[in-house]
Amino acid sequence: MKRLSAGFLPPVALDAASGVPMYDQLSEWFRRAIMDGRLRPGQRVPSTRSLAKELDISRIPVLSAYEQLYAEGYLETFVGAGTCVARAIPGEAFAPAQRTTQPKKSQGAPRRISRRVAALKTAPQTWADNQGAFRIGLPALDHFPSTAWSKLLHRHARNPPIGHMVYGSPMGYLPLREAIAEYLSTVRAVRCDASQVLITTGSQQGLQICAHALLEAKDGVWMEDPGYPGARQALRTAGAEIVPVPVDDEGLNVDAGIRLGKNARAIYISPSHQFPLGVTMSAARRMQLLSWAARTGAWIIEDDYDSEYRFGGRPLASLQGMDADDRVIYVGTFSKVMFPALRVGYIVAPKDLIEAFATVRDAFDTFSSTLYQAALADFITEGQFARHIRRMRALYLERRTALLDAIDQHMDGKLEVIGTHAGMQLTALLARGVDDVALSIKTAKLGVSTRPLSICYAKPPKRGGVILGYSGASVAEIRDGVRKLRSCL
Ligand SMILES: Cc1ncc(COP(=O)(O)O)c(C=O)c1O
Repeated sequence: MKRLSAGFLPPVALDAASGVPMYDQLSEWFRRAIMDGRLRPGQRVPSTRSLAKELDISRIPVLSAYEQLYAEGYLETFVGAGTCVARAIPGEAFAPAQRTTQPKKSQGAPRRISRRVAALKTAPQTWADNQGAFRIGLPALDHFPSTAWSKLLHRHARNPPIGHMVYGSPMGYLPLREAIAEYLSTVRAVRCDASQVLITTGSQQGLQICAHALLEAKDGVWMEDPGYPGARQALRTAGAEIVPVPVDDEGLNVDAGIRLGKNARAIYISPSHQFPLGVTMSAARRMQLLSWAARTGAWIIEDDYDSEYRFGGRPLASLQGMDADDRVIYVGTFSKVMFPALRVGYIVAPKDLIEAFATVRDAFDTFSSTLYQAALADFITEGQFARHIRRMRALYLERRTALLDAIDQHMDGKLEVIGTHAGMQLTALLARGVDDVALSIKTAKLGVSTRPLSICYAKPPKRGGVILGYSGASVAEIRDGVRKLRSCL
């Protein structure tokens, strides 16, 4: 167990008026804290000098108390570590923490939590524990240019300017916003300047900010069905009523949307690479959706989460770039092109929404870490970002090919693969009647993560499937994963 720094000690209660000598009160306090587990074996305790200073008493009673505790075997010293709670506490003395930390029995008064929690709760997802094949949304972390990245972090962490240590703008760090605006205008044909770019803690927060800035409770929102469960959760935090709208091979079915939710206030959509079916929305559907939104005043939330990776055809422009009425809010993330734990994403907002979005962002968590934003800005502007994406595109193409070959070779036509032209994952449909959740639980036991397709639907679909991420697994892991998947079928 790691030793806690000597700087931390539970509050010591001393009563100068009690008549009990200070050293007695102090040694008794230590005995109790050790016995009930608030101080753990091996934990460092402050030096006598700093404890006396902290308690604002003379050092003498502290010295006497420590002497006593050494003699009784409660404290000991280690070279280089100072004074610690003894690792071998006198037998019966040590009683683990339960006595004091267990919650008291309820006195009958209700212990209410919000109803929102029930709406957000999902079934346990055992398949999310594995970090190899076929965990979705996982980049090739072993190929991440960690040396270059840590140099940039070091550059900004060493002697940081005061401006990087104080509270920053809720909109984010300006050089990063400028770099993102330039990148998106060039690569994704997004029409924006830096003033419209708001840095978020991943696109999950981006979606949440959209929901809270644009919706009232019970407002209807079209959601692709099947669709991204994370978006459903984000919308629900604002009390949205989800209107599931079917997806076909042209993307979201706009006619069905109008039929099912004509009063919707917003639409969530992933038009470049629909999650999870992998469809690209047709130009006709895009126009139909944009003109419906312009007529009705609905907002369109475009989730463009992985369009850096396309393996055929020309890269498609964003929906935002086609929008003449400023109805589209564009949401993006660095989770796929950098790594998920970075927790940096962005929103490109229409100019008249910037203030509302900044207000909500400020209320949520003020702003993102300036250190990471500054390092990321340099990573982009110095060309390493473009280089990394180019390398990953080639690598993911190789891994996707390995997965398709292995499926071809080992699955005897038991899987129908769809959505392979872009991204970091593909979807494989199962025969009717095969329970995809049961299958995913089974593969998870073998260390293989296959996300069931049915959890992306509002209602159980006629045909289940598994979503297989290939970007984060080596070719060998992919082949092994397919063999294990086959054994589970
Ligand atoms: C459709 C979709 N949107 C967004 C994200 C990324 O979310 P975040 O930026 O919060 O990591 C994911 C991640 O899996 C996703 O699948």
